[in-house]
Formats: sequence, structure tokens, C-alpha cells
Amino acid sequence: MTYSWPDIHGFFGEYGGQFVPETLVEPCRTLERAFRDVQADGSFAAELLLHLRDFGGRPTPLYEAERLSAQHGFTILLKREDLLHTGAHKLNNALGQALLALRLGRTRIIAETGAGQHGVATATVCARFGMQCVVYMGTKDIERQAPNVARMKMLGAEVRPVTSGTQTLKDATSEAIRDWVTNVHDTFYLIGSVVGPHPYPLMVREFQKVIGEETKRQLADAQRSADLLVACVGGGSNAIGLFYPFLNNDVRIVGIEAGGEGDESSHHAAALTRGAPGVLHGSRSYVLRDANGQILEAHSISAGLDYPGIGPEHSHLFDSRRVEYARVSDREALAAARELARCEGIIPALESAHALAYLPKLREQKFSGTVVICLSGRGDKDMSTYAAHI
Ligand SMILES: Cc1ncc(COP(=O)(O)O)c(C=O)c1O
Repeated sequence: MTYSWPDIHGFFGEYGGQFVPETLVEPCRTLERAFRDVQADGSFAAELLLHLRDFGGRPTPLYEAERLSAQHGFTILLKREDLLHTGAHKLNNALGQALLALRLGRTRIIAETGAGQHGVATATVCARFGMQCVVYMGTKDIERQAPNVARMKMLGAEVRPVTSGTQTLKDATSEAIRDWVTNVHDTFYLIGSVVGPHPYPLMVREFQKVIGEETKRQLADAQRSADLLVACVGGGSNAIGLFYPFLNNDVRIVGIEAGGEGDESSHHAAALTRGAPGVLHGSRSYVLRDANGQILEAHSISAGLDYPGIGPEHSHLFDSRRVEYARVSDREALAAARELARCEGIIPALESAHALAYLPKLREQKFSGTVVICLSGRGDKDMSTYAAHI
């Protein structure tokens, strides 16, 4: 059967929907209508394509990592989102939503960020289009992703520190939603992943699917095919961006969650493989929660994966088993980052290093063939963590 989620109410099977306060019901509907309109409008797609190409630098290469392939005994292709302007896939979505905000006449943009890559992408597009930009970021993340905080400020954004709760992405998102509720008349909430109420998970997927579409074209041009796709999953936007165009194909797909301190520890961010269904930030999805439904603290060495939820589409793909999900630990991700740096001369983002850390597991599975890994971002922002651990 052809894959066609979400339904018209924004559900991917049992997951998704719009679990929002009354003040946000109408804004979500307006956004949904506006998004449908631009989807049907060829001039929007053409404008976005131009910005992705000339401002963003797309297409990003599909790069054969020869020395890494030799090390593992199978062919490894890296989809180089780390080479996109601003250093991660987040710009694909930020450009799309900023153009949509302009069409809606909004000039004040708010965003949440964990690793700071979405904050930088948002600050970048706001500078490009002359819009006011406010980014919410937990104080713990401000400390561990300092270079990105400096970049956002350089780009003219206001970074608002969030001191509540775990001082990470979950609390930054809650603060951004609070701002949205208060300033809904003039503010556009530019969400950074395939999370939040409908239409965000659909919209962000549509803006990120360029990753998979390009990969498909590049494979065809090189007369190659992929046996396996692998990507890390925080909220899940780089993963769904790569996976979505392949869901109707006969290819194995694996999403990698942050296993944190390992399976014996409760410090992890594996919402799918160690969580349960619940509601967080406007949609129903797998989350880390206690028996009363209260959201639990997540942990990952990588700020961009340190979130107790995951996008609803991934929850559906997990239940339906179309996509496999696995987890790797902080330590395995650090080792994988070091391996890529020394083997290929590419320092990956800590988030992307989680996808790379699946390579030794593939060797254990006696995998042979070609794997495409989404190298979602570059590691400049993580140098202080790498310096402390490697
Ligand atoms: C480089 C990079 N990769 C991956 C992620 C995780 O986000 P997502 O799962 O939405 O791709 C982030 C989040 O900040 C990131 O910065």
C-alpha cells in the first residue's frame, strides 16, 4: 500500500494531532491553510528552490567515504548536510518556514533550539529576510553550545536563556510555546523539527524531504542503489527528510536514538525504544514519561538529541515496523566521531556521530552492500565536548 500519512486531521495512525490550548487552535488552522496554499503554488516551490541552491548551497554531495568503507568492509555513502550553509540540515526547514511567514505577513519570528543549529538557521534566515528573531535556549545548552550562541547574536538574534526545568530543549520549547500563545497576532513560531501540533510535523517533513529526494537522484545518476539508510533521531527531522522519499521502496531503514549512558542507566533520550505513548508539546507521540504521564528528564551528550519526545511520524513508523530504531550510547557516539575525523578528515556533529556509531553494529550483523548515512551537521559547535572527552 502506498504510504500517505498524515490524514487530514494531522494524525499518523494514532500519533500527531493538535493538543493545544484554545488560543492556538485558530493559528494552527491558519497555518495549515497557508501551508496547503503554498504547496499548491508552484511559485513558492520555485522561490524556495532558488534560495536552497544559491543561499544554502544545495545540492549537498553524496560522498563515498572510502577509507571508512575499507575499515568496515562495506560501502558507506555520506549525505553531506554538514556542507549546507550554517553547517546542518536545519536551514532547509528554516528557509521554507521563513518564506511562509513572509507570505503570512509576519515579521517577528520565534524559535527554540538545543544544539543551537536550528537557532543559527533561524537567525540566518531572519537576517536574510529582515525579520525580528527571538531564540529560546536552555542555560545548560547555552553553555555546551557556546559557539552557536555567539553566531546567533552576531546575526542579530536575541537569545533568551531558559532557566526552568532541565534547562535544555524541552524547556526551551515550552517557553517558545508560551511566547507564541501571548503574541500570536504578530508572531510566527518557526519549529525546528518534525514535532509540535499539526501541521508542523507535516510541514517540516515537506521542507526536509529534499535530503532524500536529492539522495535518490544522486544514486540514480551514479547508477548505484542503497541497501540501507541510517540517520540519528532527535525530534526526527533529518531522519524523516532522508527516509520519507524511500518509504515506498524496498530498502531497509534505521533511525538511531540517543542511548545516553547506556542500557543499565536511566539517563538516556530513547523516547521510542525506551519510552511509551503520551502527549508533549502539542502532539501525541512516544515520550519518556512516568506512570502518571509526567514527562521525565532526558539525557544525551548531544544537545540536539537531548529531548524526551520524538516526532509522531516516527512513532507510527516504529509501531508499523517500516523503520527499525536502535540506540547508541554517548561513548559509542564519541568513538564514532573520532573515527570519522581520523579516517576521512570530517569532524561530525555529535548528533550525526550517533548515526555513524551504528556502523560497528552493522559489521556485527555481517551487513554487506551500500549504506547511506545522513551526516546531518558538522562538529565545530561540539569542539569543547570533543576536547574534554577525546
Ligand atoms: C546537526 C544536528 N543533527 C541532528 C539534530 C537532531 O534534530 P532532528 O532529529 O530534528 O534532525 C540536530 C538538532 O539540533 C542537529 O543540530
